[in-house]
Amino acid sequence: MSLYKQPDYWSLKAKTEHYPARSVYKLQEMNEKFGLFSPKAAKKSEPVKILDLGAVPGSWSLYALRLLGKRVFVLGVDLAPLSPDYDRGLFEGEHYCFLQGDMTTGEIQQAILAQSPFHLVMSDAAPGTTGNPGVDTFRSLTLAEAALEYADRTLLRGGNFVVKVFQGGDSSGLLKGIRKRFKIGKSFKPQACRRTSFETYYLGLDKLG
Ligand SMILES: C[S@@+](CC[C@H](N)C(=O)[O-])C[C@H]1O[C@@H](n2cnc3c(N)ncnc32)[C@H](O)[C@@H]1O
Repeated sequence: MSLYKQPDYWSLKAKTEHYPARSVYKLQEMNEKFGLFSPKAAKKSEPVKILDLGAVPGSWSLYALRLLGKRVFVLGVDLAPLSPDYDRGLFEGEHYCFLQGDMTTGEIQQAILAQSPFHLVMSDAAPGTTGNPGVDTFRSLTLAEAALEYADRTLLRGGNFVVKVFQGGDSSGLLKGIRKRFKIGKSFKPQACRRTSFETYYLGLDKLG
């Protein structure tokens, strides 16, 4: 039986507010605390361009679309197809584009580069867990490193970055790498992360030139 069968406060809130996943409240808290969606790189007159890696079932994308309305363009990427059940037309419009595929492959990389640059790169991508902490943390780190490479290649100077990592692996090098590239680099665990979960988030704010 799944550990997470009982809906908790955050799952019920997501249901009421028509978000497909409770993970939206992790992003909301990080945005409210660190201004993720107001990167220095973005001018008021132009849309904020966001790359959302590991976007399915779509809560983070939906949060950006609802929050910024016409002032946003989101490119979502995931191995799985996007669920259109929640979007009420938002995913259909000109402010959203979705690529289905593996973010670590050359083909998807080319498609992402074609839509760059971005003001915010966010990655909630997570591997399917095996129950073996060594394997799971290694796979999570591989995805997080790929996300940082996207930040290197597609993020504008003054842009922001957020990435999920499973704790316990050798992720200190990743945080060091973020601190080298951004004015501020930090680790943060939002309240909506499950107590039993070993995930956390690394943030890079204000990309250096
Ligand atoms: C926790 S979910 C993301 C939830 C999403 N942020 C939301 O709010 O709805 C993690 C996602 O990462 C995706 N993922 C894992 N490995 C991936 C890869 N190599 N390329 C693209 N997506 C990947 C999974 O398919 C899964 O949908």
